[in-house]
Amino acid sequence: MKDTATVTTRTWRLDDTAPGTGTRQTMVLAAEHDRLPQVVYWGAPLPPEADLATLAAAHAIDVTGGMLDANPDLSLCPEAVRSFPGQPGLILRGEDGTPLLPKFHYASEDGSDGLALTYTDPENGLALTFRLTPDPSTRIVQLKTILTSERPVHLHWLAAPVLPAPQHSSEMIDVAGRWTGEFQLNRTPWSAGIRYRENRTGRTGHEHFPGLIVPATGATNTQGEAWGFHYGWSGGHRMIAEELPDGRRQIQFGHAARMETKPATRFESATLYVTYSPYGLNGCAVAFQRHARDRIVTWPDDARSRPVHYNCWEAVYFDHKLPVLTDIASRAAALGAERFVLDDGWFGQRDDDTRSLSDWTVDARKYPDGLGPLISHVHGLGMTFGIWFEPEMINPDSDIHRAHPDWALGGDDQTLGRQQKALNMALPEVRDFIYDRMAAILSAHDIDYVKWDHNRVLPMPDADQTRGSYALIDRLRAAFPQVEIESCASGGGRIDFGILKRTQRVWLSDSNDALERLRIQHDAALFLPLAVTGSHVGPRRCHTSGRILDISFRAWVAAQRHMGFEMDPRELDEHEARVLTEVTAWWKANRDWMTLADIHRLDAPDPAILAEQQQHRTGDRFVVFAGKAATSTQIAPRPLRLTALEPDATYQIELINRASAPALSRGNPILKDGPIDVSGTWLMHHGITLPWHFPETMWVLEGTRL
Ligand code: DGJ
Repeated sequence: MKDTATVTTRTWRLDDTAPGTGTRQTMVLAAEHDRLPQVVYWGAPLPPEADLATLAAAHAIDVTGGMLDANPDLSLCPEAVRSFPGQPGLILRGEDGTPLLPKFHYASEDGSDGLALTYTDPENGLALTFRLTPDPSTRIVQLKTILTSERPVHLHWLAAPVLPAPQHSSEMIDVAGRWTGEFQLNRTPWSAGIRYRENRTGRTGHEHFPGLIVPATGATNTQGEAWGFHYGWSGGHRMIAEELPDGRRQIQFGHAARMETKPATRFESATLYVTYSPYGLNGCAVAFQRHARDRIVTWPDDARSRPVHYNCWEAVYFDHKLPVLTDIASRAAALGAERFVLDDGWFGQRDDDTRSLSDWTVDARKYPDGLGPLISHVHGLGMTFGIWFEPEMINPDSDIHRAHPDWALGGDDQTLGRQQKALNMALPEVRDFIYDRMAAILSAHDIDYVKWDHNRVLPMPDADQTRGSYALIDRLRAAFPQVEIESCASGGGRIDFGILKRTQRVWLSDSNDALERLRIQHDAALFLPLAVTGSHVGPRRCHTSGRILDISFRAWVAAQRHMGFEMDPRELDEHEARVLTEVTAWWKANRDWMTLADIHRLDAPDPAILAEQQQHRTGDRFVVFAGKAATSTQIAPRPLRLTALEPDATYQIELINRASAPALSRGNPILKDGPIDVSGTWLMHHGITLPWHFPETMWVLEGTRL
């Protein structure tokens, strides 16, 4: 039996409480004696008078045969030396390679901004600080671990503060993907042992978006409890979701192991963003979306509407001809584009992807008078101008590689990626060189946008590379604060809150196939808001899938996010140009509120339907996009239930593109006639009955609270 008289328990409580909304989640930490604290509660808000010492004691699990005499703590950094039966939160060695087995003791705390707890290990000269900072307005808690040492040490693994996962959960959802197939959700049942994801590619990667959602058993998009995690780091992460032999579960996130290549006296994890949702996956999604838009991204001009993009990549690729580009720009402007982005091919001798990366001077063969004439033309059309760079890369066939072969990262015999190497971003002279070349272009012209690409993985993971890239972007942003940056890496290969702190848009995927995009952006909405998610209307026949899709579907899918065009506008017939112009005008009329809206994924009862409800913060208006991704099994559309409405309020809903119902929709669902007024209860419990439609089409409904 525990001698309670001699046990001192320290407890801490974190609530996220915003004016007007009350508390939305509570986290309770407790530690016996001076040991590292563990999270003993994380979920729905607890009453203010909750007795934390009782909760800490009541959290403890029993001891039986085949166990130690007490259960080692699942602390913010589980310690191997305390017989923790799972993965430790910290693995390090002395400078001579001797493994260290740290054991930490309470040192100090600071509650001025969330909670900072410091623990020391005097024997090894180490200190660990945990920062836990709730953001009441977004419902995200930011977590970070900092390790300092009196002597240089080698770091193998450092987890951001470690959290328990609920045991009333049957599965976890993490994120995989591939080029043109980003944000694929994996559902893995919990079982004894580890679900281990480790990204050793040196960039966030298509394959390894660093996110995890742990839903309680039975939770859906709109209902039930869920816990969300996102590690904001662009260099590759490690995730451990482990079920211990005693049944407890732990979640660890950190940089991929052994990314710190040199001994040092200070290391820190990136920020782990976590949230608890009482209303399904959407509660996590909305928290991440709001946090990304309101707390992570810094906008050069908050009040500026997101401009409609035109990107010329799939229209011309490397074949840049001034008369063609000016013609395309004029047509794009007439369709409604507001920013023209000149993609790859304008510099060096870049006629294909085998050469010239790093030779960031304008190709005089293609632009004998420089970029000025094209930029003036674009400006004359009322559009702003953006330009593509791939700053961290170098082709062996480039003047810079010939002059500075030592600037490239990795050995001479390395396998190239897209015929290119990465530059060593840890070298100040490399960063200075890239900065000077980019600054020369940005200073010489009125440019408000950089599409920043990164088309290969690194030869080896290295945290210095990521820090070097961050430092370069930070320097450019400080010098050119009006320039927005899009993070692209062969599409969605570098998307995370670390890069989004420095950029304003992500190129979600190189797939401009609206059918694929519908799915990718639906799943990416678990973490990303419209404001940062680029989506373009691609060519009639998609270049990456070969699929031919109707303009209306292509346009509406792009209108679900930050809209743009990427097809050659010369291919559009009159009908296509009219539809695109109309949808673009609709997007412009709605973008300002949609940019701030929450995206709720709907629980469509028909797996052929991917539907979402974009809802104004006030709840006064919403738009529902119901995309039909396949032919349904049953004949008629099943009612689609909405979410997050006021049950007693009356809403007017209108199927705004009802004119596109095909002749095969022979009946008279009332929405084909015009708007109807119905209650929130009906919309959320019965659901809207849409007209029959073909696959690869989108119904769009507007709703207004009366
Ligand atoms: C990969 C990007 O994802 C494309 O959009 C385009 O910018 C090409 N690189 C250019 O090389």
